[in-house]
Amino acid sequence: MSLARTRLIAPSLLAADFADLRNEIFRVEKAGADWLHLDVMDGHFVPNLTFGPFIVSAIRSLTPLPLDTHLMITDPAFYAPRFAEAGSNLITFHVEAVQDVVRTIREIKGLGVKAGISIKPATPVDAVLPYLESLDLVLLMSVEPGFGGQKFMPEAVPKIRSLREAIDGRNLTTKIQVDGGINPETAKLVRDAGVDVIVAGTSVFRSKDPAAALSQLRA
Ligand code: DX5
Ligand code: ZN
Repeated sequence: MSLARTRLIAPSLLAADFADLRNEIFRVEKAGADWLHLDVMDGHFVPNLTFGPFIVSAIRSLTPLPLDTHLMITDPAFYAPRFAEAGSNLITFHVEAVQDVVRTIREIKGLGVKAGISIKPATPVDAVLPYLESLDLVLLMSVEPGFGGQKFMPEAVPKIRSLREAIDGRNLTTKIQVDGGINPETAKLVRDAGVDVIVAGTSVFRSKDPAAALSQLRA
């Protein structure tokens, strides 16, 4: 999985038509998606349930796109090996969910996949600063995790900016990803603030023309 310094778009499968997953994935792949964002929810860390490693391995068999796996679960260290085995290329867990962050990052990397940390809207950027050197990605949530189709929280913008400063100040290649409520308008705000990877569910999968949706997000 390439983490070269370009702006990437990761459509979130959560907004797809799950009765037609094969075509939905093909549609965004053809449209030029860079990664596929997979939202894993356990009904404990967030009040919603989605899917687990079994479905991820089915998705793996449908696409060569890098699988960007966003774990919104209470025990990421326990389940990470199963997602790696299922074909996830990047595993992102929530800092609010774990006791030992350093150990969780080490365990994920030990599986041969990239490691990311996510923070909820109310968690300050400071919570990830001690780990930047060992992370491939930081995911800043711009909605409360749990559901697609919510409204972008502008409080995410200054968080992106201060994370950008910290990463550039230390000369790191850690990517900044933003997730929740991204449309062409909010994409511009987060891009100007210095984001590297944009997650977009509703604005890509609910569009009649995903290629046009992607180019609007990149514009
Ligand atoms: C929310 C998920 C997001 C969500 C984004 O918990 O992490 O990835 O699917 O959906 P939109 O783009 O519709 O806000
Ligand atoms: Zn997500």
